[in-house]
Amino acid sequence: MKNVGFIGWRGMVGSILIQRMLKKKDFDNINAIFFTTSQYGKSTSNFNIKNKHKKLENAYDFKKLFELDIIITCQGSKYTDKVYFKLRKIGWNGYWIDASSNLRTLNDSVIVLDPINLKYIQQKLNMGVKTFVGGNCTVSLMLMALGGLFKNNLIDWLYVSTYQAASGAGAKFMKELILQIQYISKNIPNLAYNSSYNILDIEQKISKQMYSSSFPKNYFHIPLINNLIPWIDKKMNNNGQTKEEWKGQFETNKILNTNKIIPIDGVCVRIATLRSHSQSFTIKLNKNLSIDNLTQIINSHNKWVKIIPNNFDDTINFLTPAFVSGKLDIVVGRIKKINIDKNCFSIFSVGDQLLWGASEPLRRMLKLLI
Ligand code: HSE
Repeated sequence: MKNVGFIGWRGMVGSILIQRMLKKKDFDNINAIFFTTSQYGKSTSNFNIKNKHKKLENAYDFKKLFELDIIITCQGSKYTDKVYFKLRKIGWNGYWIDASSNLRTLNDSVIVLDPINLKYIQQKLNMGVKTFVGGNCTVSLMLMALGGLFKNNLIDWLYVSTYQAASGAGAKFMKELILQIQYISKNIPNLAYNSSYNILDIEQKISKQMYSSSFPKNYFHIPLINNLIPWIDKKMNNNGQTKEEWKGQFETNKILNTNKIIPIDGVCVRIATLRSHSQSFTIKLNKNLSIDNLTQIINSHNKWVKIIPNNFDDTINFLTPAFVSGKLDIVVGRIKKINIDKNCFSIFSVGDQLLWGASEPLRRMLKLLI
C-alpha cells in the first residue's frame, strides 16, 4: 500500500476532502499518515480512519516527508513554498498533489480536473510528471459546466461575470460574513416587523451601522453584507485584470492543453453568499447551434451537469448557491441566444466551490495514483 501524507486536512478544503474520502472508502487502499504544522506527537485516535498512523507527524520534518509516496496538501501556498522546492531539491521523487495555486504555473505541473483532462493527466503521468495541482475554483466549475462545448471545440471566446462566495476567500472570511449578518440583526432589532418604521429609514440605519467603527471587517476590509466587492486577488500588471480574472484564460488553456489559446476574460465579484460560486457566461461559438443542440452537448458531457429549464420556478429553486451547496451537481441554466449575435449564447451556472471547485479534483487525482 502507498504511504500517503495528508497536510492541511483540518482546514475547510482538507476536511471536505477527508469527508469525501471516508464516504468513498478511499482510505481502505492507502497507508494514511497525518501531518500537522503545530500539534505533532498528538494521537490520531479521535478520528475513525482505517490504516492510519497513530500519531500526528511534523509537517516540516523532511525525513518523514521523504518516506512518503504521495503528499496531498490543502495547507496553502505558504506551506507549499516552504516545503515543495526543498523536498524536490533533496531528491524526493514522490507525487505531490496540491490545492493551492502557486505550482499551477510551473512548466512541469499539471492542473487536474479529470472529467475534462483525464487523457492529458495520464499522458503526463506516463511521461513521469509528479506534480498535480487543483485548478482555480471558478475555472474548474466553468469547465465542468461547459465541458461539452470545450470538448467539441465550439468556443471562439468566452466572457464571464462571477458571483463568488465567501468560502473562496477562506474560513475566516466566511465567519466574518456571519458576524456581519449578526451585527446588523443585533443592532437593528425587529425594525422590519414594526409597521411604524418606514423601509427607507431602516435602510438608512443599516447603512449607518455598516460604517460604524465596531463593524466586523478585519478580513474583507468593508461590509460584504448588503454589498458586493468587484475585485478578487491582486492586480496584474497587464490590462487592468485582477489575478482571479487572469487565471480564467491561463488555467483553462493549461487544463485543456490547447494549441491555440481560447480567449477568456471577465469580471470576478465577491458576493455575500457563504459557499457556492455562480457564473454568468457570454460565449461566442464558431457555429450557429440551436438551443436544443447546445443544451444536449452540455448535458451529455458529464454526469454532474444538471440542466435547469429556462423558466422562473426552476431557476429560482435550483439555479442557486443555496440549492447547490454541499452537492456535486453543476447546475446549468438560463441558456439563451443573445440579441447581439446569432452565434452568441448566455448561460448561468452554479457549483459548490469546496467540492468540484477545490477538493474533489484532488481526491480523484489521488485515486488515480492508488
Ligand atoms: N480564488 C477563489 C476565490 C478560490 O477567491 O473565490 C477558489 O480557487
